[in-house]
Amino acid sequence: MDVKQPLRIALIPGDGIGRDVVPAARRVLEATGLSFQFVELEAGWETFERTGTALPPETLAAVQGCDGTLFGAVSSPSRRVAGYSSPILALRSALDLYANLRPAISQPVPGSRGGVNLLIVRENTECLYVKREHEEEGGERVIAERVITRHASARIAQMAFQLAQTRAAARPERRPRVTVVHKANVLNLSDGLFRRTALEVAAQYPDVEAEEQLVDSMVYRLIREPQRYDVVVAPNLYGDILSDAAAALVGGLGLAPSANVGAHGVVAEPVHGSAPDIAGQGIANPLACIAAAALLLAHLGEPAAARRIEAAVDVTLSAGVWTPDLGGSATTEDVTRAVMEALAHVPIL
Ligand code: NAI
Ligand code: MG
Repeated sequence: MDVKQPLRIALIPGDGIGRDVVPAARRVLEATGLSFQFVELEAGWETFERTGTALPPETLAAVQGCDGTLFGAVSSPSRRVAGYSSPILALRSALDLYANLRPAISQPVPGSRGGVNLLIVRENTECLYVKREHEEEGGERVIAERVITRHASARIAQMAFQLAQTRAAARPERRPRVTVVHKANVLNLSDGLFRRTALEVAAQYPDVEAEEQLVDSMVYRLIREPQRYDVVVAPNLYGDILSDAAAALVGGLGLAPSANVGAHGVVAEPVHGSAPDIAGQGIANPLACIAAAALLLAHLGEPAAARRIEAAVDVTLSAGVWTPDLGGSATTEDVTRAVMEALAHVPIL
């Protein structure tokens, strides 16, 4: 084997079950045999309560010095709290992580639909998530701004079509397809710009089939026939909602990973939140975070190690080592050990 520099990975457990699942994923990463240097960092609600900031400057600086980051989950209040802003949103913007990639793949668990292998490519920087809201009429009327730009729409579409090509290389039996999701029939200008820009990009990829779908009928068809989708590209809000729906089709939040990617960084995270209802009980499903760690490796130029982790997750699920969210009685520790054990038997290709 050639001698490689260790991968520098920032670990941000955050709040709640983030503190259970990130250490589990770290152990699985270590069990791949690759060489890592981990940097443990703080962020989140408890950090905010203690220090007055949810993303301390030291955390951001350390993340910027690492090759990639594994983020657990943070608790965010649903009311406005002076001085608090979500650290994951801040990280996405500081590192310009303009794409949120959310694969949804059939899993050997009860409740998972079969034959699903799709990737939602969600725009990660604009739409309603610019969070420009203000009150009028003494709070009786609230205006939220929604921003769509050609620049952001073009680069997310480029990424979607490129990823469709990459996926096709691994699955020659399927013609690659990108589904462009919008609501341009109502939001003629904003979604109209997203749609037009994405379809212009599509013209540069004649080998990839491009189709468009209104977001409401997209939800309907996704649930009726998820097997027909390959890559789905959408503005931020639609992508967020669609990806939670897609996660529900293939085993739920306990299994769903995501990666925030841009030109200068990658932050992988489970889709789920801090799950205060089960925090501290040792029963959180670590597999979403472990799968996120695999996505991280894939984006850091270690696709073979990523595939080995995915294979070990598959072995674990097929063996019925399930946490309560999947109907089983395994603990976080049981599942983590099972994955590490399986990894030891997955061949190094
Ligand atoms: P949630 O994802 O934390 O939990 C939803 C439900 O799924 C709960 O019943 C929970 O027990 C279950 N669940 C989630 N992940 C699980 C896992 N790994 N294993 C077993 N069960 C799991 O979403 P919720 O309840 O809406 O939000 C809780 C907190 O998390 C809020 O403060 C919210 O702001 C925050 N949140 C943070 C996110 C992030 O850090 N990226 C994303 C979503 C929510
Ligand atoms: Mg979400």
